[in-house]
Amino acid sequence: KSAGLLLVAALTPVLSACSGVQSALDPAGDESGQVARLFWVMIAGGLQIWTFVVALSLYASRWKREPLPEDKAARVIFWGGAMLPVTVLAALLAYALWLMPSLRPIAGSDDATLRIEVTGRQFWWHVVYQRPNGVSVVSANEIRLPVGERVEFALTSTDMIHSFWIPALGGKMDLIPGRQNRLSLKPTKVGTYRGQCAEFCGTSHALMAFPAIVMEGAAFDAWLNARSRPSSGVEAPGMGRALFERERCGSCHRIAGTPWQATAGPDLSHVGSRLTVGAGQLASGSEALASFIADASAVKAGAHMPANSHLSAAELTEIATWLKGLQ
Ligand code: CUA
Repeated sequence: KSAGLLLVAALTPVLSACSGVQSALDPAGDESGQVARLFWVMIAGGLQIWTFVVALSLYASRWKREPLPEDKAARVIFWGGAMLPVTVLAALLAYALWLMPSLRPIAGSDDATLRIEVTGRQFWWHVVYQRPNGVSVVSANEIRLPVGERVEFALTSTDMIHSFWIPALGGKMDLIPGRQNRLSLKPTKVGTYRGQCAEFCGTSHALMAFPAIVMEGAAFDAWLNARSRPSSGVEAPGMGRALFERERCGSCHRIAGTPWQATAGPDLSHVGSRLTVGAGQLASGSEALASFIADASAVKAGAHMPANSHLSAAELTEIATWLKGLQ
Protein backbone atom coordinates (compact mmCIF):
# COMPACT_ATOMS: atom_id res chain seq x y z
CA LYS A 1 0.00 0.00 0.00
CA SER A 2 2.79 2.38 0.92
CA ALA A 3 4.51 1.49 -2.37
CA GLY A 4 1.35 2.63 -4.18
CA LEU A 5 1.34 5.91 -2.28
CA LEU A 6 5.01 6.38 -3.10
CA LEU A 7 4.26 5.82 -6.78
CA VAL A 8 1.45 8.40 -6.72
CA ALA A 9 3.74 10.88 -4.95
CA ALA A 10 6.49 10.29 -7.52
CA LEU A 11 4.17 10.61 -10.51
CA THR A 12 2.20 13.68 -9.37
CA PRO A 13 4.81 16.30 -10.32
CA VAL A 14 5.48 14.45 -13.58
CA LEU A 15 1.85 14.17 -14.66
CA SER A 16 0.84 17.64 -13.48
CA ALA A 17 3.18 19.00 -16.16
CA CYS A 18 0.95 17.38 -18.77
CA SER A 19 -1.69 20.11 -18.68
CA GLY A 20 -1.86 23.89 -18.54
CA VAL A 21 -1.52 26.88 -20.87
CA GLN A 22 2.14 26.24 -21.62
CA SER A 23 2.39 22.47 -21.95
CA ALA A 24 3.59 20.71 -25.08
CA LEU A 25 1.76 17.61 -23.76
CA ASP A 26 -1.63 19.34 -23.76
CA PRO A 27 -1.72 20.08 -27.49
CA ALA A 28 -4.07 22.58 -29.13
CA GLY A 29 -2.57 22.46 -32.62
CA ASP A 30 -1.63 20.11 -35.46
CA GLU A 31 2.11 20.31 -34.87
CA SER A 32 1.99 20.05 -31.08
CA GLY A 33 -0.40 17.09 -31.41
CA GLN A 34 2.20 15.22 -33.45
CA VAL A 35 4.95 16.13 -30.99
CA ALA A 36 2.86 14.94 -28.02
CA ARG A 37 2.02 11.67 -29.79
CA LEU A 38 5.69 11.13 -30.62
CA PHE A 39 6.57 11.76 -26.96
CA TRP A 40 4.15 9.11 -25.68
CA VAL A 41 5.18 6.58 -28.34
CA MET A 42 8.85 7.11 -27.37
CA ILE A 43 7.95 6.67 -23.69
CA ALA A 44 6.07 3.44 -24.48
CA GLY A 45 8.99 2.10 -26.53
CA GLY A 46 11.55 3.02 -23.88
CA LEU A 47 9.34 1.50 -21.20
CA GLN A 48 9.40 -1.90 -22.93
CA ILE A 49 13.20 -2.05 -22.94
CA TRP A 50 13.42 -0.67 -19.40
CA THR A 51 10.89 -3.23 -18.12
CA PHE A 52 12.80 -6.09 -19.68
CA VAL A 53 16.16 -4.93 -18.27
CA VAL A 54 14.72 -4.42 -14.76
CA ALA A 55 12.92 -7.78 -14.85
CA LEU A 56 16.11 -9.49 -15.95
CA SER A 57 18.24 -7.91 -13.26
CA LEU A 58 15.66 -8.73 -10.57
CA TYR A 59 15.56 -12.32 -11.80
CA ALA A 60 19.35 -12.54 -11.78
CA SER A 61 19.85 -10.92 -8.40
CA ARG A 62 16.98 -12.31 -6.32
CA TRP A 63 15.37 -15.48 -7.63
CA LYS A 64 18.06 -17.27 -9.49
CA ARG A 65 21.11 -18.35 -7.56
CA GLU A 66 22.17 -21.03 -10.05
CA PRO A 67 23.62 -19.83 -13.38
CA LEU A 68 21.39 -20.52 -16.41
CA PRO A 69 22.38 -23.39 -18.70
CA GLU A 70 24.47 -22.05 -21.56
CA ASP A 71 21.92 -22.56 -24.38
CA LYS A 72 19.16 -20.85 -22.33
CA ALA A 73 21.47 -17.93 -21.48
CA ALA A 74 22.34 -17.53 -25.15
CA ARG A 75 18.64 -17.39 -26.05
CA VAL A 76 17.93 -14.74 -23.39
CA ILE A 77 20.85 -12.65 -24.65
CA PHE A 78 19.87 -13.07 -28.31
CA TRP A 79 16.13 -12.33 -27.96
CA GLY A 80 16.16 -9.97 -24.99
CA GLY A 81 19.55 -8.34 -25.36
CA ALA A 82 19.65 -7.95 -29.14
CA MET A 83 16.33 -8.57 -30.91
CA LEU A 84 14.01 -6.74 -28.49
CA PRO A 85 15.96 -3.46 -28.37
CA VAL A 86 16.74 -3.55 -32.10
CA THR A 87 13.06 -4.11 -32.99
CA VAL A 88 11.74 -1.48 -30.59
CA LEU A 89 14.37 1.11 -31.58
CA ALA A 90 13.86 0.42 -35.29
CA ALA A 91 10.09 0.88 -34.87
CA LEU A 92 10.64 4.18 -33.02
CA LEU A 93 13.07 5.37 -35.69
CA ALA A 94 10.64 4.46 -38.47
CA TYR A 95 7.80 6.33 -36.75
CA ALA A 96 9.95 9.42 -36.17
CA LEU A 97 11.19 9.44 -39.79
CA TRP A 98 7.62 9.05 -41.04
CA LEU A 99 6.57 12.07 -38.93
CA MET A 100 9.45 14.27 -40.09
CA PRO A 101 8.01 15.76 -43.30
CA SER A 102 4.92 17.11 -41.54
CA LEU A 103 7.03 18.53 -38.72
CA ARG A 104 9.23 20.60 -40.99
CA PRO A 105 8.95 24.24 -39.83
CA ILE A 106 7.36 25.35 -43.12
CA ALA A 107 5.20 22.27 -43.77
CA GLY A 108 1.93 23.33 -45.34
CA SER A 109 2.80 27.02 -45.34
CA ASP A 110 1.61 27.31 -48.96
CA ASP A 111 -1.92 26.94 -47.58
CA ALA A 112 -1.41 29.71 -45.01
CA THR A 113 -4.28 32.21 -44.94
CA LEU A 114 -2.58 34.48 -42.43
CA ARG A 115 0.97 35.71 -42.17
CA ILE A 116 2.34 37.07 -38.93
CA GLU A 117 5.68 38.82 -38.71
CA VAL A 118 7.20 38.60 -35.25
CA THR A 119 10.31 40.57 -34.30
CA GLY A 120 12.02 39.75 -31.03
CA ARG A 121 13.22 42.70 -28.96
CA GLN A 122 14.73 42.89 -25.48
CA PHE A 123 12.28 41.82 -23.87
CA TRP A 124 9.11 42.07 -25.92
CA TRP A 125 7.54 41.11 -29.25
CA HIS A 126 6.71 43.29 -32.26
CA VAL A 127 3.84 41.69 -34.19
CA VAL A 128 2.43 42.46 -37.66
CA TYR A 129 -0.61 40.57 -39.01
CA GLN A 130 -1.10 40.33 -42.78
CA ARG A 131 -4.10 38.90 -44.59
CA PRO A 132 -3.86 38.14 -48.34
CA ASN A 133 -6.75 40.62 -48.84
CA GLY A 134 -4.47 43.45 -47.74
CA VAL A 135 -5.58 43.89 -44.13
CA SER A 136 -2.47 44.65 -42.10
CA VAL A 137 -2.34 45.26 -38.36
CA VAL A 138 0.59 46.25 -36.16
CA SER A 139 0.52 45.03 -32.56
CA ALA A 140 2.78 43.80 -29.79
CA ASN A 141 3.18 41.26 -27.00
CA GLU A 142 0.13 39.19 -27.85
CA ILE A 143 -0.66 36.74 -30.66
CA ARG A 144 -4.21 36.03 -31.78
CA LEU A 145 -4.95 33.20 -34.19
CA PRO A 146 -8.03 31.86 -35.99
CA VAL A 147 -8.79 28.21 -35.15
CA GLY A 148 -8.39 25.70 -37.98
CA GLU A 149 -6.42 28.06 -40.23
CA ARG A 150 -2.80 27.58 -41.18
CA VAL A 151 -0.63 30.51 -40.16
CA GLU A 152 2.83 31.32 -41.42
CA PHE A 153 5.14 33.15 -39.03
CA ALA A 154 8.04 35.23 -40.37
CA LEU A 155 10.50 35.55 -37.51
CA THR A 156 13.40 37.90 -37.00
CA SER A 157 15.13 40.01 -34.35
CA THR A 158 16.81 43.38 -34.13
CA ASP A 159 19.07 42.77 -31.13
CA MET A 160 19.72 39.36 -29.55
CA ILE A 161 18.82 35.86 -30.68
CA HIS A 162 15.39 35.09 -29.23
CA SER A 163 13.23 32.04 -29.78
CA PHE A 164 9.51 31.95 -30.51
CA TRP A 165 7.69 29.13 -28.77
CA ILE A 166 4.01 28.42 -28.08
CA PRO A 167 4.33 24.90 -26.61
CA ALA A 168 0.59 24.20 -26.83
CA LEU A 169 0.64 24.88 -30.59
CA GLY A 170 4.07 23.70 -31.76
CA GLY A 171 7.35 25.31 -32.61
CA LYS A 172 9.89 26.47 -31.64
CA MET A 173 11.96 28.67 -33.92
CA ASP A 174 14.81 31.11 -33.34
CA LEU A 175 14.53 34.82 -34.11
CA ILE A 176 17.93 35.85 -35.46
CA PRO A 177 19.11 39.37 -36.34
CA GLY A 178 19.62 39.83 -40.07
CA ARG A 179 17.68 36.80 -41.23
CA GLN A 180 14.10 35.67 -41.48
CA ASN A 181 13.02 32.25 -40.22
CA ARG A 182 9.68 30.76 -41.13
CA LEU A 183 7.39 28.63 -39.03
CA SER A 184 4.00 27.23 -39.94
CA LEU A 185 1.39 26.35 -37.31
CA LYS A 186 -2.25 25.30 -37.34
CA PRO A 187 -4.18 25.71 -34.08
CA THR A 188 -7.04 23.26 -33.62
CA LYS A 189 -8.54 24.24 -30.26
CA VAL A 190 -9.99 27.58 -29.16
CA GLY A 191 -8.42 28.84 -25.95
CA THR A 192 -5.83 31.05 -24.31
CA TYR A 193 -2.31 29.68 -24.23
CA ARG A 194 1.10 31.08 -23.41
CA GLY A 195 4.16 31.70 -25.51
CA GLN A 196 7.64 32.16 -24.12
CA CYS A 197 11.04 33.26 -25.40
CA ALA A 198 13.08 30.06 -25.46
CA GLU A 199 16.59 31.39 -26.09
CA PHE A 200 18.56 33.22 -23.41
CA CYS A 201 18.61 36.85 -24.52
CA GLY A 202 19.51 38.86 -21.42
CA THR A 203 18.48 39.65 -17.86
CA SER A 204 14.74 39.37 -18.41
CA HIS A 205 14.76 36.49 -20.89
CA ALA A 206 12.49 34.52 -18.55
CA LEU A 207 10.03 37.45 -18.46
CA MET A 208 9.69 37.65 -22.24
CA ALA A 209 6.34 35.95 -22.73
CA PHE A 210 3.01 36.58 -24.43
CA PRO A 211 -0.56 35.30 -24.39
CA ALA A 212 -1.49 33.27 -27.47
CA ILE A 213 -5.24 33.38 -28.03
CA VAL A 214 -6.92 31.01 -30.48
CA MET A 215 -10.31 32.38 -31.56
CA GLU A 216 -13.22 31.25 -33.75
CA GLY A 217 -12.60 32.37 -37.34
CA ALA A 218 -15.41 34.96 -37.47
CA ALA A 219 -14.46 36.44 -34.11
CA PHE A 220 -10.85 36.66 -35.24
CA ASP A 221 -11.77 38.49 -38.44
CA ALA A 222 -13.95 40.95 -36.52
CA TRP A 223 -11.08 41.49 -34.10
CA LEU A 224 -8.53 41.98 -36.89
CA ASN A 225 -10.75 44.40 -38.82
CA ALA A 226 -11.36 46.47 -35.69
CA ARG A 227 -7.59 46.59 -35.06
CA SER A 228 -6.93 47.82 -38.61
CA ARG A 229 -8.52 51.15 -37.63
CA PRO A 230 -7.29 53.56 -34.95
CA SER A 231 -8.90 53.12 -31.53
CA SER A 232 -11.67 55.62 -30.81
CA GLY A 233 -10.05 55.97 -27.38
CA VAL A 234 -7.32 58.23 -28.78
CA GLU A 235 -9.81 61.13 -28.67
CA ALA A 236 -10.98 60.41 -25.12
CA PRO A 237 -11.26 63.50 -22.90
CA GLY A 238 -8.92 63.91 -19.94
CA MET A 239 -5.29 64.76 -19.30
CA GLY A 240 -3.86 61.38 -20.35
CA ARG A 241 -3.11 62.20 -23.96
CA ALA A 242 -1.56 65.59 -23.12
CA LEU A 243 0.68 63.95 -20.52
CA PHE A 244 1.67 61.23 -23.02
CA GLU A 245 2.73 64.06 -25.35
CA ARG A 246 4.48 66.12 -22.64
CA GLU A 247 6.52 63.10 -21.51
CA ARG A 248 7.49 62.34 -25.11
CA CYS A 249 6.24 58.75 -24.85
CA GLY A 250 5.62 59.03 -28.59
CA SER A 251 9.33 59.24 -29.34
CA CYS A 252 9.46 55.46 -28.73
CA HIS A 253 5.86 54.25 -29.12
CA ARG A 254 3.42 54.22 -32.01
CA ILE A 255 -0.32 54.82 -31.63
CA ALA A 256 -2.40 54.55 -34.82
CA GLY A 257 -4.42 57.69 -35.55
CA THR A 258 -1.97 60.00 -33.77
CA PRO A 259 1.24 61.76 -34.86
CA TRP A 260 3.24 59.24 -32.80
CA GLN A 261 4.63 56.57 -35.09
CA ALA A 262 7.92 55.53 -33.48
CA THR A 263 8.91 51.87 -33.34
CA ALA A 264 11.61 51.77 -30.64
CA GLY A 265 9.08 50.44 -28.11
CA PRO A 266 5.94 48.32 -28.33
CA ASP A 267 3.06 49.54 -30.50
CA LEU A 268 0.33 50.90 -28.21
CA SER A 269 -2.48 51.36 -30.76
CA HIS A 270 -4.93 49.06 -28.94
CA VAL A 271 -2.91 48.37 -25.81
CA GLY A 272 -6.01 48.63 -23.60
CA SER A 273 -7.49 45.48 -25.10
CA ARG A 274 -4.46 43.29 -24.48
CA LEU A 275 -4.59 40.66 -21.75
CA THR A 276 -1.26 41.55 -20.18
CA VAL A 277 1.11 44.45 -19.56
CA GLY A 278 4.87 44.07 -20.01
CA ALA A 279 4.78 41.07 -22.39
CA GLY A 280 2.96 38.59 -20.18
CA GLN A 281 4.05 39.97 -16.80
CA LEU A 282 1.05 41.80 -15.30
CA ALA A 283 -2.67 41.22 -15.79
CA SER A 284 -3.95 44.12 -17.89
CA GLY A 285 -5.52 47.11 -16.18
CA SER A 286 -4.84 50.80 -15.65
CA GLU A 287 -3.09 50.05 -12.34
CA ALA A 288 -0.72 47.62 -14.05
CA LEU A 289 -0.07 50.18 -16.80
CA ALA A 290 0.60 52.91 -14.22
CA SER A 291 3.08 50.80 -12.28
CA PHE A 292 4.84 49.72 -15.48
CA ILE A 293 5.15 53.34 -16.65
CA ALA A 294 6.40 54.41 -13.20
CA ASP A 295 9.25 51.91 -13.22
CA ALA A 296 9.37 49.30 -15.95
CA SER A 297 12.62 47.81 -14.71
CA ALA A 298 11.00 47.01 -11.35
CA VAL A 299 8.69 44.65 -13.23
CA LYS A 300 11.25 43.60 -15.82
CA ALA A 301 14.94 44.12 -15.07
CA GLY A 302 16.83 45.44 -18.08
CA ALA A 303 13.73 46.86 -19.80
CA HIS A 304 14.78 49.78 -21.99
CA MET A 305 11.93 52.09 -20.93
CA PRO A 306 13.28 54.65 -18.45
CA ALA A 307 11.67 55.02 -15.03
CA ASN A 308 9.26 57.96 -14.64
CA SER A 309 9.66 58.61 -10.93
CA HIS A 310 9.07 62.34 -11.51
CA LEU A 311 5.42 61.72 -12.36
CA SER A 312 2.83 62.02 -9.59
CA ALA A 313 0.45 59.16 -8.87
CA ALA A 314 -2.38 61.24 -10.35
CA GLU A 315 -0.43 61.86 -13.56
CA LEU A 316 0.44 58.17 -13.88
CA THR A 317 -3.23 57.29 -13.44
CA GLU A 318 -4.24 59.81 -16.14
CA ILE A 319 -1.83 58.33 -18.69
CA ALA A 320 -2.69 54.76 -17.74
CA THR A 321 -6.43 55.44 -17.95
CA TRP A 322 -6.05 56.96 -21.42
CA LEU A 323 -3.96 53.99 -22.58
CA LYS A 324 -6.45 51.51 -21.07
CA GLY A 325 -9.11 53.27 -23.15
CA LEU A 326 -7.26 52.35 -26.37
CA GLN A 327 -9.44 49.30 -26.96
CU1 CUA B 1 14.13 36.85 -25.76
CU2 CUA B 1 14.97 35.11 -24.38
